[in-house]
Amino acid sequence: MKELILVTGGTGYIGSHTVVELIKEGFDVVIIDNLSNSTTESLDGIEQITGIRPDFEQFDLLDLQRLEQFFASRPSLKAIIHFAASKAVGESVEKPLLYYRNNLNSLINLLHCMVVHEVSPIVFSSSCTIYGQPRELPVTEQAPILPAESPYGNTKQICEEILADSISAFNVLKAISLRYFNPIGAHPSALIGELPRGVPNNLVPYVTQTAAGVLPELKIYGNDYDTPDGSAIRDYINVVDLARAHVTAIRRLIAGKNSEPLEYFNLGTGKGTSVLELVQTFEQVTGVKVNHRIVGRRAGDIEKVWADTTKANETLGWKAIHSLDETLLSAWNWEKRLRDIK
Ligand code: NAD
Ligand code: UD1
Repeated sequence: MKELILVTGGTGYIGSHTVVELIKEGFDVVIIDNLSNSTTESLDGIEQITGIRPDFEQFDLLDLQRLEQFFASRPSLKAIIHFAASKAVGESVEKPLLYYRNNLNSLINLLHCMVVHEVSPIVFSSSCTIYGQPRELPVTEQAPILPAESPYGNTKQICEEILADSISAFNVLKAISLRYFNPIGAHPSALIGELPRGVPNNLVPYVTQTAAGVLPELKIYGNDYDTPDGSAIRDYINVVDLARAHVTAIRRLIAGKNSEPLEYFNLGTGKGTSVLELVQTFEQVTGVKVNHRIVGRRAGDIEKVWADTTKANETLGWKAIHSLDETLLSAWNWEKRLRDIK
């Protein structure tokens, strides 16, 4: 019998790549998504890649009654991977209540149903944003959690606290919180990837849309940071590598190999890349020029961050394997497919 995993937000960017890896590893998957930031086209992509169309239920996790019905109808549910959340940092500043309501209540509703129906474990999508600008680099899981720069970042911190308090209160629960660094790229088939909504805020979609001629120029936010070339440094992690980590985490929990009821892991490559290095690498691997200009720093940006991946490598048994070259090429192939560029 295949084990059944609930993937919330499974039609979204990271969720859809994780569903592919789960199916490849022999799991049954059921997705809940309200399609607020995705479409069912990702289900077509998943089916083309794996030959299997995952079960899909379209509803909002804020609808507790509907979620309870779902849990009652799936007694064989083995574990949960919870991606569903609102994730745009800028929007969260303008609409804080929407972000607190969606990100906190969807987790609270899930944990409620897990306790009532005695379903556990859960893997939670956290973010390196909770570390702010760390004093020591690379950043380990023990680094202090700094006051959040945005309501979005705050929801990730509060969700980790909700998980910790719920796990202390209810013996049935156990969880892994995965702290992603900067996820980029797309599936090598270019059948699934990140869907653009309006003008992108994140660097790589901005780079690919500029290369495709959809946007006139990339603005590089700052060249006066205390870094070798003056531009800011991040740890860019391939989305398929990230997806594989979720399968590893869920296996660890199901097998009871977790050393504590709530574990935290940094998911990055362990290597920092500057904005200028990333643009140069993109140009080299694709042969396409990216029109760019240096402008002032972006408000709220930190100077540099990259992960200490020792715990993820040694305890979780996961490592990022894709190079930045391959990952940027996959992002470009996805952009070309979206824009029908040959
Ligand atoms: P995404 O927007 O592509 O996917 C999230 C999915 O959740 C979407 O399909 C959306 O429709 C769905 N959703 C949102 N609220 C819902 C609700 N109330 N009920 C049902 N479905 C709902 O985002 P992503 O990039 O795949 O991110 C997945 C998770 O990882 C999020 O929790 C995000 O905060 C976290 N994360 C993402 C990044 C990143 O750079 N992409 C970095 C760190 C952490
Ligand atoms: C942002 C979020 C973070 C979230 C992460 C992944 C902020 C402050 N932080 O991180 O919470 O977890 O996305 O979704 O928004 N850059 C440019 N030009 C651009 C776009 C970006 O130079 O047009 C630079 C930025 O200044 C930064 C780097 O590229 O130095 C990466 O930016 P981005 O992709 O937006 O991610 P983060 O800011 O690291």
